[in-house]
Amino acid sequence: MIRTVTVPTTPYEGQAPGTSGLRKKVRVFQQPNYAENFIQSVFDVVRPAPGAVLVIGGDGRFHNREVIQQAIRMAAANGYARVLVGRGGILSTPAASHVIRKYGASGGLILSASHNPGGPDEDFGIKYNIANGGPAPESVTGAIHARTETIDRWLTVKADDIDLDKLGEVRVADTTVAILDPVADYAELMETLFDFDAIRAMVSSGFTMRFDAMGAVTGPYAHEILEKRLGFEQGTVVHGTPLEDFGGHHPDPNLIHARDLYDLMMGPDAPDLGAASDGDGDRNLIIGRGRFVTPSDSLAMLAANIEIAPAYRGRLTGIARSMPTSGAADRVATAFGIPCYETPTGWKFFGNLLDAGKATICGEESAGTGSDHVREKDGLWAVLLWLNILAVRGISVDELAKSHWARFGRNYYARHDYEAIDKTNADALMAELKAALPALPGKTFGPLTVAHADSFAYTDPVDHSVSENQGIRVLFEDGSRVVFRLSGTGTQGATLRVYLERYEQPLGHLDAETAAMLEHQIAAADAIAGIARHTGRTAPDVIT
Ligand code: G1P
Ligand code: ZN
Repeated sequence: MIRTVTVPTTPYEGQAPGTSGLRKKVRVFQQPNYAENFIQSVFDVVRPAPGAVLVIGGDGRFHNREVIQQAIRMAAANGYARVLVGRGGILSTPAASHVIRKYGASGGLILSASHNPGGPDEDFGIKYNIANGGPAPESVTGAIHARTETIDRWLTVKADDIDLDKLGEVRVADTTVAILDPVADYAELMETLFDFDAIRAMVSSGFTMRFDAMGAVTGPYAHEILEKRLGFEQGTVVHGTPLEDFGGHHPDPNLIHARDLYDLMMGPDAPDLGAASDGDGDRNLIIGRGRFVTPSDSLAMLAANIEIAPAYRGRLTGIARSMPTSGAADRVATAFGIPCYETPTGWKFFGNLLDAGKATICGEESAGTGSDHVREKDGLWAVLLWLNILAVRGISVDELAKSHWARFGRNYYARHDYEAIDKTNADALMAELKAALPALPGKTFGPLTVAHADSFAYTDPVDHSVSENQGIRVLFEDGSRVVFRLSGTGTQGATLRVYLERYEQPLGHLDAETAAMLEHQIAAADAIAGIARHTGRTAPDVIT
């Protein structure tokens, strides 16, 4: 029954240490023993106890079904009592997090490369989430990584592929495999969090929206929740069928890849709300009629209004944001007299704060927002919270943004990405920058004077673990700042991210052009880091 096979691959090769899962080209995943090495390393590290339950699901991208069939056989060989799989191999990342929590699973395998493109020549990924529903912490991912390098066998059972499209239970060796409706549990959870009646009333009074599922996993969730349960008219959800190649697009809800939605929202036929989500359903894009809301602002605006939603009434204990995310949320926290935690980039750092009840809502500048309802960021959740707030306050997105800024001030914000740069050059840039930090305070760049510069380190307030080298922060005397870090999720060369931010008081310029407001910070960033000198690039590839 159990086969033992040698495992020659080292799956993490070339990937930044500490990343929560594997992310590589499909062709790499198709190598013999490759995915098996990673999956067996997970099982060797987490050692399922008797009776353990494992959740498996993915965003439906190319190669999803193959890996799921293999993972089911391996889970059976490794002693899991039950495996829960989303029908068709589908589970959005937040839905997988919820299913892990709801059914008391010991963990889950989530198959996705998030917002990266899909298809035979594109990206694939696998990560392991723990029993709280969140991405495994560094202690676990580090142990998995180490195991992938010494492993010498993987376990499987001889069994045929199962029918992933048929709801119900089947046996694979001694393991029960249950195929679940991927939407039902999640939709039910959303109904417990938000005032669906208020949203339905707003919809029947003429409120309109467009939700772009980008050919990715949120289509079935959005059709069910927005059109069936909330009464938005058919056609509100576009690109609502999950496709293996996402229709050839990047399922990345930003102003480049969701340009059509942006253009619609800025034009004469704009509905009241435009929203989109990414490949695996954890990111969100929010655009009101004529008003784009940055993810950092969205976090602050949602936090300031979250107690409107029934499940959060009287329950906002704290806010958490990743370090590069703007300080807009901090202004809300200060006004409300609650803490705002500044964590390294990556959702896994929010897990302990959410588990301990220290933070209720969290977010990242990279279009991720979520709360303690699951342990992942959650794209549709953010859209529903926006809808709930707009329904109860009876105002537009633009009005809400303006009233927020008039109360708390506005954090102008942009991220400049330099993609696929040479890794050696990128490392040299960061090393030089780090070496220059002690000499920066007091130096001037145009009208800006450096007040403080450091390499961000984080001590987890719950388990006291320390994470160092989480990005370079340069803070100026006027309160503006630039932040530099290298992406940990790219699959080609290195990506340098430069985050730019400037705060305006409530009585300052609240409706100016972001690029103009950040002019001096942009110039200072290049002068400080020598971006053009190191990379040969004079402009970023992507501005978000
Ligand atoms: C990016 C985002 C980060 C997010 C991660 C996973 O990581 O910047 O906020 O948590 O994707 O969705 P990066 O490529 O910057 O390491
Ligand atoms: Zn994602």
